[in-house]
Amino acid sequence: MRFASLSDRLAGLGAAKWEVHFEGQKRSRAGQPVIMLSIGEPDLPPPARVLDRVVQSMYAGRTRYASPQGEPGAREAVARHLAERSGMAVSPEQVLYCAGTQNGLYTSLMTVVESGDEVIVPDPYYATYEGLVAASGATFVPVQTSPEAGFHLTPEALEAAITPRTRVLLLNTPSNPTGAVLSEAEVDAIGAVCERHDLWILSDEVYADLTFSGRFCSPFDRPQLRERTLAVSSISKSHLLPGFRAGWVAAPETAMPRLLSVAEAILFGSQPFLEDALAEALTGHHPEVEAFRASLRGRAEAVVSAFEGCRHTNVRMPEGGMFLMVDVRATGLNGEQFAWRLLDEANVVVMPGESFGLGAAAGHVRVALTVEKEQLREACVRIRQLIEKLAG
Ligand SMILES: Cc1ncc(COP(=O)(O)O)c(C=O)c1O
Repeated sequence: MRFASLSDRLAGLGAAKWEVHFEGQKRSRAGQPVIMLSIGEPDLPPPARVLDRVVQSMYAGRTRYASPQGEPGAREAVARHLAERSGMAVSPEQVLYCAGTQNGLYTSLMTVVESGDEVIVPDPYYATYEGLVAASGATFVPVQTSPEAGFHLTPEALEAAITPRTRVLLLNTPSNPTGAVLSEAEVDAIGAVCERHDLWILSDEVYADLTFSGRFCSPFDRPQLRERTLAVSSISKSHLLPGFRAGWVAAPETAMPRLLSVAEAILFGSQPFLEDALAEALTGHHPEVEAFRASLRGRAEAVVSAFEGCRHTNVRMPEGGMFLMVDVRATGLNGEQFAWRLLDEANVVVMPGESFGLGAAAGHVRVALTVEKEQLREACVRIRQLIEKLAG
């Protein structure tokens, strides 16, 4: 039988990046005391009020088909959430409900690019981006950042990568894997380049609520950039509910009919009871959300202090997100080799930097802040010992 070239383009871009993680899981299930720091899955309990709402909604009959653009209550809650954040009005008509950020990114990309187009992505980048762009048929164009500059994209690097085929800048702030958070001035400067070249900005904001220093800034919240921005997010990380697959795309109203046609081809509506949960999540405050934010900051500080005084690496406090990058270049191994040695010799699983691009992330490993501080400290002691053994 024949298969579409799409499946060739995607070969090797999915699960292959997570091999160390899967092996760690296997060993853990077999009873080995493995510390898993490999995926960005929140470990604390989600807001009780949101869980209660799902159950109530299901019993109230909210189990039928939903409106393809999203239930009015969910879209109103997202619009209110985004308007409060920016001080700029957002209408529910500008919101498309989607099954998590990944689905929102895919829907958006399929709406604005096709074969022959180029999508610029700051490198390091989230591991699924290559597959996303490949699926659309467009060409993936990584733009380098550097660890020395805190992995921040510069307008100059962006400008240099633009060709007549460039259509989209795929931006992720706070960044997975680097923890870089772009300031308002940086967003404006990068946005000015996008304006000059008439590019879309596809803004992955899944960690928007998880910043440690500085304020999150979205291009969607900048008046001059809103018309070219598709802002995508979810409650996967902020509200500790990745399994709900509940998220949104916020877009200029003129883009909505096109986004909706694509969303209808993919999903044609989501689950009303989960949309109710998203509305509940985005309304008022939840102690669980505050607790998670505070614990992430404490955990990041614990990692940084665990590496203090180490001559062979320099671990910086991330500006946001759920991850830290540890430079292992002094060991002479690349990130992937180091991650396997760490699993074999120290029972700790981290992600190879190379899973996030072969540029600045190479020779690093990514540590997820997804276990309690004590266990994280213990893991860092083992990571540091391996670095010192190999580098010394
Ligand atoms: C940068 C980034 N974007 C998107 C996602 C996927 O988010 P969601 O669970 O909302 O699909 C993740 C998950 O790890 C992520 O790190």
